[in-house]
Amino acid sequence: MRVAVAGAAGRMGATVCDAVTGAEDMELTGRADPELGVAVADVLADADVLVDFTRPDTALENIRLAVAAGVHAVVGTTGFDVGAIEAMPGEGKVLVAPNFAIGAVLMMQFAAQASKHMAKAEIIELHHDRKVDAPSGTAARTADLMDGDVPIHSVRLPGLVAHQEVILGDVGQTLTIRHDSTDRTSFMPGVLLAVRKVADLDTSPVIGLEHLL
Ligand SMILES: NC(=O)c1ccc[n+]([C@@H]2O[C@H](COP(=O)([O-])OP(=O)(O)OC[C@H]3O[C@@H](n4cnc5c(N)ncnc54)[C@H](O)[C@@H]3O)[C@@H](O)[C@H]2O)c1
Repeated sequence: MRVAVAGAAGRMGATVCDAVTGAEDMELTGRADPELGVAVADVLADADVLVDFTRPDTALENIRLAVAAGVHAVVGTTGFDVGAIEAMPGEGKVLVAPNFAIGAVLMMQFAAQASKHMAKAEIIELHHDRKVDAPSGTAARTADLMDGDVPIHSVRLPGLVAHQEVILGDVGQTLTIRHDSTDRTSFMPGVLLAVRKVADLDTSPVIGLEHLL
């Protein structure tokens, strides 16, 4: 399986390049990033799948190029309008996940379940201070999956990676569901799973890693 990475010089993209290189059934065929002087259009001819971890303002164009070239896209970039993927012409299939960590997927599911039984909830999401979007894609997705109006609070500090607490309150009690990614390798099993399965999706785009588990 030939895999190209968009955002290859970034924090997540570089980690994905290492994971793809270490996977026996995959070959890293392209590393696109303005920092490396390589455009996404230059890596598509040699790729079956494009993995995108870039920026909210570039992800849609990268996905559009991949889909039009018949290259499947696995997208981790957050903070852009996912709805715009629906209308893209082309044969490539698209899997978008706001969070590729299995623990975070479980946190979202547990929070959705708990929100049916408790009066109110709020989300605190905490990330490193270089993150460009707020609230995080994971927090926005969690709130979407939960019952009721769920306010989100965003913390940006050096020393953090990606963390989220969902606090639910009811008479005389609270329930806290917390997930911590302490290292970017936490996202890699989910990314590799998506790369292996994206070609077999029945519909496209699919939003959320839970659909592949
Ligand atoms: N889904 C998940 O599990 C998950 C986990 C962590 C981060 N993220 C998201 O991944 C994205 C990247 O995060 P990061 O911390 O690696 O950011 P980063 O700033 O370290 O890396 C982004 C890279 O994209 C490059 N880039 C910009 N425009 C480009 C283009 N047109 N084509 C190719 N590359 C381009 C930049 O030069 C940079 O190297 C963010 O949106 C973040 O929220 C998602």
